[in-house]
Amino acid sequence: MAILKVARLGHPVLRQRAEPLDPGAVRSPGVQRLIDDMIDTMREYDGAGLAANQVHTLRQIAVIEVLGNPRYPDAPSIPLMVVVNPVVTPLTDELEEGWEGCLSVPDMRGRVPRHTAVRLQCLDREGRPLDLIAKDFFARVIQHETDHLNGIVYLDRMRDLSTLTHIAEWNKHWLGIREQSD
Ligand code: NI
Repeated sequence: MAILKVARLGHPVLRQRAEPLDPGAVRSPGVQRLIDDMIDTMREYDGAGLAANQVHTLRQIAVIEVLGNPRYPDAPSIPLMVVVNPVVTPLTDELEEGWEGCLSVPDMRGRVPRHTAVRLQCLDREGRPLDLIAKDFFARVIQHETDHLNGIVYLDRMRDLSTLTHIAEWNKHWLGIREQSD
C-alpha cells in the first residue's frame, strides 16, 4: 500500500493514451498492487476517481469512489469501483453542464458538459466483464476518468473557460447554489 505521486497538468503522461490489459493480466500481483495503491491515492487526496495516467502508468485502469467526499459535498455516493479497459457509449444526445475538478488540476473547478446517461463496458479487478448503465453524476465521473485514459482532461471539454474557478472562490461564490437540473 502506498500513496502515489499524482501527475499535474502539463505532464505529458496526461496526454497519452493508456494501453488496454489482457483479462488474464488483471489478476497479476503487479496490477493488483497498482489498483490498491490507486485506491489509497484517490482516498488520500479526496478524489472522486483516479485514472492510471494520473499516477504515471499508461494502463487502462481507473478507480472511482464517492463517500461523503469533502471536495464534492453535494455529490451522491458511488461505491468503490475498479474499471479496466472501459468502453463508454453515450445513451443520450443530451449534455448537461456540471462542476468538475481533477487531482491533476489542483484547486480548480470548471463547468463541463457531459452525457447524462452512458453505457459502461469494462472489466472489474478480477478481470470479469461488467456491463452497466450509469446516469447523472455517476455517468459524469465515468466520462471524466475514461477521458483521462484517452489523454483528455476536463478542460478540453469545457465550452466556456470563464467558469474556470479557483476552489477558494468556488466555495465563496458557487457552493450551495443548486444546479438547475436539481
Ligand atoms: Ni481527473
